[in-house]
Amino acid sequence: MKIVMLGAPGAGKGTQAKMISEKYGIPHISTGDIFRANIKENTELGQKAKTYMDKGLLVPDELVVDLVVDRLAQDDAKKGYVLDGFPRTIPQAEALTAALEKIGEKLDYAIDVDVPDENIIQRMSGRRACVSCGGTYHIKYNPTKKEGVCDACGGELILRDDDKPETVQQRLSVYHEQTQPLIDYYTKAGILKEVDGTVDLDAVFEAIVGILG
Ligand code: AP5
Ligand code: MG
Ligand code: ZN
Repeated sequence: MKIVMLGAPGAGKGTQAKMISEKYGIPHISTGDIFRANIKENTELGQKAKTYMDKGLLVPDELVVDLVVDRLAQDDAKKGYVLDGFPRTIPQAEALTAALEKIGEKLDYAIDVDVPDENIIQRMSGRRACVSCGGTYHIKYNPTKKEGVCDACGGELILRDDDKPETVQQRLSVYHEQTQPLIDYYTKAGILKEVDGTVDLDAVFEAIVGILG
């Protein structure tokens, strides 16, 4: 099963992608997580990506596409994957379609997690991310068992650098301008499925499982 998650920053793409990955046994591939791991390791890619991410801007397509195409060629992606945060622009979506066509494959679902902007700002200020494994929590909606400590790996939890309200506002406008057109793109491709992302996370997941079967 090959799935793309769509949705605004903070809609819950990462949260749901992780649950999908666990239930269906397919890798969760998040470009945001890949960039954050590179920033942490201080790689050249990480240094480049950080200058865009901290401003709430998209990393240029040419730094993203090859990275994802290479990742999808790895063995664990043979039986499928859930892509989270990619594609994010029409050129990225076209590059993905072309790369898949080349090997005779295509996506099965594009799932749009729909959450209005008003809910997003509030969600982001309560989000906490694990510095070690990228696990995502919320102080109110998805708390860890022990405050400040990741349930999955015991790592330290932080507020992401790009979760400051001004940056979230910028990410939202970038989303509407550059990423929302993908809803139309995947509707035309006949694979778009929409879920209400404002209900609690288990209810969102139930709706997704209803689609994926
Ligand atoms: P990325 O890491 O992908 O960030 P994003 O798209 O802005 O999305 P988020 O990770 O912020 O939100 P999410 O939808 O995953 O929500 P989450 O599950 O955490 O990208 C970061 C940056 O990297 C970009 O700005 C860009 O610069 C760069 N980048 C990445 N990919 C790129 C690409 N392809 N091209 C160019 N640049 C790229 O949930 C949010 C919070 O809400 C959490 O606290 C969660 O616990 C909580 N929550 C989740 N669901 C619910 C619910 N149903 N009810 C209540 N709370 C909930
Ligand atoms: Mg995410
Ligand atoms: Zn962790």
